[in-house]
This record gives sequence, C-alpha cells and structure tokens, in this order.
Amino acid sequence: MASSPYYLTTPIYYVNDRPHIGHAYTTLACDVLARFHRLDDREVHFLTGTDEHGQKVEKSAILAGKDPQTFTDEVSQNFRNLAGDMNYSNDDFIRTTEERHNQAAQAIWRAIKDNGHIYLDSYAGWYSVRDEAFYAESELTKNEDGQKIAPTGAEVEWVEEPSYFFNLSKWEEPLLEFYEKNPDFIGPESRRNEVVSFVKGGLKDLSISRTSFKWGIPVPDDPDHIMYVWLDALTNYLTAVGYPDTKNPDYLKFWPADLHMVGKDIVRFHAVYWPAFLMAAGLPTPKRIYAHGWLLNKGEKMSKSLGNVLLPEDLVSKYGLDPVRYYLLREVPFGNDGYISHKTMVSRINSDLANDIGNLAQRSLSMIAKNCDGAVPTPGAFTESDEALLSSARNVIDTARNEFNRQAFHRGLEAIWAVVGDSNRYVDAQAPWELRKTDPDRMATVLYVLAETIRHLGILIQPIMPDAAAQLLNQLSVGVDARTFIHLGPGHALTAGAPLPKPAPVFPRYIDEEVPI
Ligand code: ME8
Ligand code: MG
Repeated sequence: MASSPYYLTTPIYYVNDRPHIGHAYTTLACDVLARFHRLDDREVHFLTGTDEHGQKVEKSAILAGKDPQTFTDEVSQNFRNLAGDMNYSNDDFIRTTEERHNQAAQAIWRAIKDNGHIYLDSYAGWYSVRDEAFYAESELTKNEDGQKIAPTGAEVEWVEEPSYFFNLSKWEEPLLEFYEKNPDFIGPESRRNEVVSFVKGGLKDLSISRTSFKWGIPVPDDPDHIMYVWLDALTNYLTAVGYPDTKNPDYLKFWPADLHMVGKDIVRFHAVYWPAFLMAAGLPTPKRIYAHGWLLNKGEKMSKSLGNVLLPEDLVSKYGLDPVRYYLLREVPFGNDGYISHKTMVSRINSDLANDIGNLAQRSLSMIAKNCDGAVPTPGAFTESDEALLSSARNVIDTARNEFNRQAFHRGLEAIWAVVGDSNRYVDAQAPWELRKTDPDRMATVLYVLAETIRHLGILIQPIMPDAAAQLLNQLSVGVDARTFIHLGPGHALTAGAPLPKPAPVFPRYIDEEVPI
C-alpha cells in the first residue's frame, strides 16, 4: 500500500525574537507529527523557518546598529540552533529573504492582480508594528496610560499612505462556503466557530502594501511599495515546494499542504486571509489549519514583551531533552492554554517516565539479563492474560493514530501510557521473580511477553522521545530497519534466543535540589 505524501509547516518565526519555549512548542508538535507519519511510511515534508521582513524587524535591525540583511543573517541562526537543541527533524528551513521566496511572493501578487483582485488606493487607519496587523477603530481599547491598544495588548499607531488593497470583502461568501464544505479545515472546534463568526461579521478590503519603509519585497511593477509582510510571509508555504513552478515534482507531490500548525494568535491570518489569497490567485487551499493554545507562565502568555519567557536551552539542560518533549505534549491538552511549572515537570518525569515506563523496562530487562542468559527468552504457550497484554500493545497504534491525526497528542499519549499501566499490573500479578523458583518455563514466557510489550512501546514513543526510544529498542536488539509502525503488526516479533546487550536505565529520576518545606 503506497501512502500519500504529507506536507506540514510551522509558522515562520519573527526573526528578531530570541526563541522561547512558546516557539519551541509549535515546532515540537509538528516534529512529533512529522516523525509519526514517517513511521507510517509516508513521505513527509516538514517546513520551518524565519519571517524576516517588515517594520518590526527593520526597527530591531536599526536598534542593533546593523543593516537589516546583516542583522537577519545573524539572528536567523538562533532559530536554526533551536532545531538542533530540540532535535527537530525538519526537511527544510526557509528564510523570507531568500531569492526563491522573493520569486514566489512576487508571483502570487501577480496572479492575484491578474485575476483582478488588487487595486490602488490609500490607507488611513491603525497599525500595530508588534503584531504587524491593521486594526479597525472598533477593535481598540485604551491601556492604563490612555494609549490606544490592540486586542493583543500591542500599541497601535496611525498610518496614512498610498496602498494597494486586496478585495477581501468579496471573499466573505466563498470563504463561508469553503468552511462549510471542509469541516476539518480549522481545528479545534472552538477556533473554527470563532473564525466563522468573524467572517460572518463582515470583511473589509485589506491593505497589502506599505510605502513608509523599505524592508520588504517590492511590489511587482511598482517598487515604491513593498508587500505587506503577512502576504509575503504566508507565501513561504508555497515557496518551499517550488512555487511559482507549479509543474515541479515537490509542488505536485506536496501542495496543497496537509497541515499548517499555528498558535491561536495567528489563526485569522491563516484561516481567513490565506485561503482568500489562494483562491484569488487560483491556487488550491491547504487541507487543515490547527491552532494550539498558549503556554502560560505566571498566568500570562509567555512573550518577550512581558518578560516572562522560559528558554528551551535552559529547560533542556535542567530536565533533559526527551523529558521536556514528553512533558510539553502530555501536560497541556493540545489546543488549550496551559501552565507549565517546575512542579508538574518533576512530577511527570518521576511518575510517568521514571516510575511507569522506566521501571517497567528496567525491572523486566534486568530479570532477563540475570535469568535468561542475556538473550530474548523462549516463550511457551500464551495464557489469556499474556494475550490480553500483547493485544493491547498491538492495538494502541489505532487509537494513537486517530488522536495524533486530530492533534490530540495528550490523548494519544494517555492511550500509550494505559498500556504501560497494564504492563506494570501484569508484572505484579505474574510475579516472575517467584516463578523463577517455582516454574522457570512460565517465567520465560512472562519475560518474553514483557520484552515484546516494551518493543511495542519503544516503537510507539519514537515520535515524542526519539533518543530514549532508540535506547530502549537498542537494549532489545531491535534492528534500526525494524522500528516503523509496520513492525507493530502481525509477523513481527522478537526472536527467542537473540542476544541482548546489558540493560541500563533509560528514564532517570529527577532529584529535586529544592528541599520541599
Ligand atoms: O506570528 N505559547 O511569528 P511569531 C504558545 N511571523 N505558542 C506561542 C507562544 C506561547 N507563549 N508565544 C509564541 C508570527 N507562540 C509570524 C508567523 S506565519 C506565515 C508568520 C507561537 O514568532 C505563536 O502562537 O510571533 C505562533 O504560532 C508562533 O509561536 C510564531 O510566533
Ligand atoms: Mg507573535
């Protein structure tokens, strides 16, 4: 069975920010999906990168005393380093200052213009540089100092300049029809409802060029204007598959994208503007946008402007990479806002990882090492409880697949950990340490069943904890070519008598230095 290709993207990050754990979260979710689909034998294209044009970046460059190109060359490296720190398996890293992107952005502009959806006028209204977004007067409130602010809390400034407009107002009906026909286009449900009611509330034409600064992609045939940074940025998803060459193999294989993962703050750009731009350009629309919630620290969205950010490299050096990856996707139900804290991190590491899966593996593998000549034990006939555990280990992939396909990572993990729980209850009930004296053949069967179950668990947790999973599978001598989801199915099992290396613990406890009072 040939599986279909899978194209998924993260937002491209504002290049001037220092990557924090909120950024890392979006890309982590994509990384897990990318790895998951590869294990399902799909050809995956996983894209991330940096958003490098616009007034915000230009201002940061000036502040740093650098020309914007030099500045972005330097700081985009921070996001490349993040990919290394977090063990992302992205297939491409795009920068919007690359020539391939310049070509694509100008081409989509031309396509929209040639189809009659762009006109020249002038803009007078509010703009937030921090959000790179236009706001209507009615959306604004005042802060404590009496300054006008956007719903995001960002300051706004009054802008008046000649501008090209996109006729977004004409796309209200086509968009509503599109959402209706594609109920899975926006997830989760709450975000979908928000978007539909926003569009039903009426759309205004959108200013899509600026003339008061220079750091952007020139508008084709009118270089006094640069393209609005969101039109420029969204197009990166097309650039990366070779647009405007719509005959090239990557475009043919991967467009339309299967999933644009975003945070809920940018759902409007992705679920309203982006499909409208694409329809106007005569291009196919992506299959799904999923908007996750915010990671909160001290009660507020973690962001540079609030000064409450946690840095990925700090968390990773404190707790370890795989535990951080597990924690972020297990602790907060994906789609919701959620708190992260030292306390819940330590609790997940010590109970879910060290106690539950770690202990299961460590006690089973050490018993095998001691009592079965350091080789995969030879099983006798399986009992009903053996069969029950093996079949729960085999079947959980179906649940995990369903949950991961709707981005419910926490539920997929919950299902996998239910098997971990079953396994630990099985060990306690079977008590192989007693069988050693009373019935060594039965002990061998029980240990074989445990080894097989751990093999399944090792394969299943690869997307979330790639290094820990590899260590587990190495300890079971599972070949590197025998680790895909196919190997959870019939015809694949450990070979009795195969030699095993000496086991070592994979999930260490976190010893808290802060003494509780
Ligand atoms: O919006 N919790 O880039 P960005 C969870 N350049 N997610 C968070 C977060 C937090 N505390 N803070 C940020 C942009 N994020 C544009 C995208 S795409 C064509 C252009 C997430 O660097 C945020 O929700 O501000 C968003 O999905 C991503 O980080 C990038 O944010
Ligand atoms: Mg942002």
